Amino acid sequence: MYDFETFISREGTGAVKWDNSKTTDGMRPIGIMPFSVADMEFACAPEILDALRDSLNKGILGYTVPEDKYYDAVCSWMQRRHGFRVTPDWIVPTYGIVSALYSCVRALTEEGDGVIIQTPVYPPFKGAVVENGRELFDCPLIKVNGRWELDYETLEKAAKLPQVKLALLCSPHNPIGRVWTAQELSRYAKICMENDVIVVSDEIHFDLVMPGYEHTVFTNVPGVQAAKCIICTSPSKTFNLAGLTTSNIIIPNKSLREIFKKQYHKDTSGYISAMGVPACTAAYNLAEDWLKELIVYVSSNVTAAAKYFGEKFPKIGVDLPEGTYLMWLDFTDMGLTEKELDRWLLDEALFFVGDGKPFGPAGTQHRRLNLACPGWALTEALVRMDEAANRLGIKR
Ligand SMILES: Cc1ncc(COP(=O)(O)O)c(C=O)c1O
Repeated sequence: MYDFETFISREGTGAVKWDNSKTTDGMRPIGIMPFSVADMEFACAPEILDALRDSLNKGILGYTVPEDKYYDAVCSWMQRRHGFRVTPDWIVPTYGIVSALYSCVRALTEEGDGVIIQTPVYPPFKGAVVENGRELFDCPLIKVNGRWELDYETLEKAAKLPQVKLALLCSPHNPIGRVWTAQELSRYAKICMENDVIVVSDEIHFDLVMPGYEHTVFTNVPGVQAAKCIICTSPSKTFNLAGLTTSNIIIPNKSLREIFKKQYHKDTSGYISAMGVPACTAAYNLAEDWLKELIVYVSSNVTAAAKYFGEKFPKIGVDLPEGTYLMWLDFTDMGLTEKELDRWLLDEALFFVGDGKPFGPAGTQHRRLNLACPGWALTEALVRMDEAANRLGIKR
């Protein structure tokens, strides 16, 4: 049994999630666990920490390139967990996925070209497009019978435009937690492939899939052409290694791969993290059991949170995550302004959830709750939320 219960204070460590979690007047209350940025409040798997200690014990943290055993570990994981047959030469290690998304946009489009995204979505998707001077084609997700879906009509309209060259897909989707089915992906792929739109599929959350759901790697979707897809993977979300900035961009097609590599080199250059290499290798070779327990643990947090909201705040719309450890909450029916929401959640309840607005127009009146935390901490925060609502006289 692994430990997902211990409180680890990240106060004073520069942890982004902790540092950013403040009341509206900028106060950071000591000892309060936040629920915002997508990393976990769990220690890494002991197998990974042991591998990192072994590396540290050698005493030297010099320039490092991944060796065969690194690539073997990545290939083996992709095959074992995802039925994704990868050869080592397809893998391009990068310093994270966001930098790779930015390079993909620069490599595969020209200024003024169009790039498709689907909001609400992880904010750097939009950033990668607009900050690079490309035209944003947002094909917002739509809610059909209470479930988020891709909007194929809008997608097709955008994909047919001659200036649209690229689509950034989030799969599983942050923040709404959908694990796209093979059928959905196949419809999405058909539209993109037929219109010569290359798909960059960001699959960083692909290991974090709740029981009963199945992730499909985009390359495995029938009809997808290797020359038109890039798969972004990483052990960082799965194993809580985001600070080691080590990801693997998988590009089956050689010429597409060379285009990406050249751009990435131009954009960043340098060597990958000396600690990221052993951590990724150990994670993929040794930490699968930790992941299995983690998923069961997070899914019990999902159930607990959904039950709590259902009983105490039935007007809060809850999107049950099929994948990711993130729950997208819709406060619209509570009838509060954004200011009142912040006053309630941040100032009174010290419940530091993520603001929905950066995820796109659909993010107003929404908050994102990170459930990769000890269950007792979640319960404490929900009780604070309840008590604060009573103090403020918030109607339910
Ligand atoms: C969809 C998605 N892509 C990328 C990232 C971050 O990737 P990286 O830290 O490897 O740059 C996140 C982090 O939350 C994410 O949710």
